[in-house]
Amino acid sequence: MAIRLGDDAPNFTAETTEGTINFHDWLGNSWGILFSHPKDYTPVCTTELGTVAKISPEFKKRGVKVIAVSVDPMDSHKGWIHDINETQKTTMNYPIIADPDKKVATLYDMIHPNAIDNMTVRSVFIIGPDKKVKLTLTYPASCGRNFDELLRVIDSLQLTSKYKVATPANWKDGEECIITPAVSDAEAQQLFPKGFTTVKPYLRYTPQPNR
Ligand code: BEZ
Repeated sequence: MAIRLGDDAPNFTAETTEGTINFHDWLGNSWGILFSHPKDYTPVCTTELGTVAKISPEFKKRGVKVIAVSVDPMDSHKGWIHDINETQKTTMNYPIIADPDKKVATLYDMIHPNAIDNMTVRSVFIIGPDKKVKLTLTYPASCGRNFDELLRVIDSLQLTSKYKVATPANWKDGEECIITPAVSDAEAQQLFPKGFTTVKPYLRYTPQPNR
């Protein structure tokens, strides 16, 4: 069954390239990103895994743990990591789940047989410290994901979990935010001492509250 926003992120125990993990225990109080790869030793996946290794300080800075999953077995993952490191000029620094029995892929509905058989599509789940699913994203196998966009979403999720704001189209960290409609103007004056601009009664901008 499809996983929807606000659902509990299903827990599992799995073998990974960094040892056996219980997913929820491994997450601890961190935010998490679980992302799937159709197959080992494939070109797009190789670039994706290398890209995430290179920008791992950005995830760390935001308190996000990253874990990949592919339905190929451990031996295959271990050999592939050499290629990822070599071709992407990086060092893998987060675990890849070996999921040959497709336990995790099935639990997270990552196999879409009408798109590709027997492999996962490119799924992403962002999971909050409360273990609830905050974002789901599904890309076709042919299109590598934009990990800058995932960092942007993390920034938005972390901001909106603390302040009564939402973030507009193409927002980036540091830019103006939108005051959520449930907040009255009187409350907004208390909550946003930097002030706000009313374009329409339902469209009010305020500087990013934590900047
Ligand atoms: C790739 O990662 O390059 C890939 C994987 C499965 C199907 C198509 C492309």
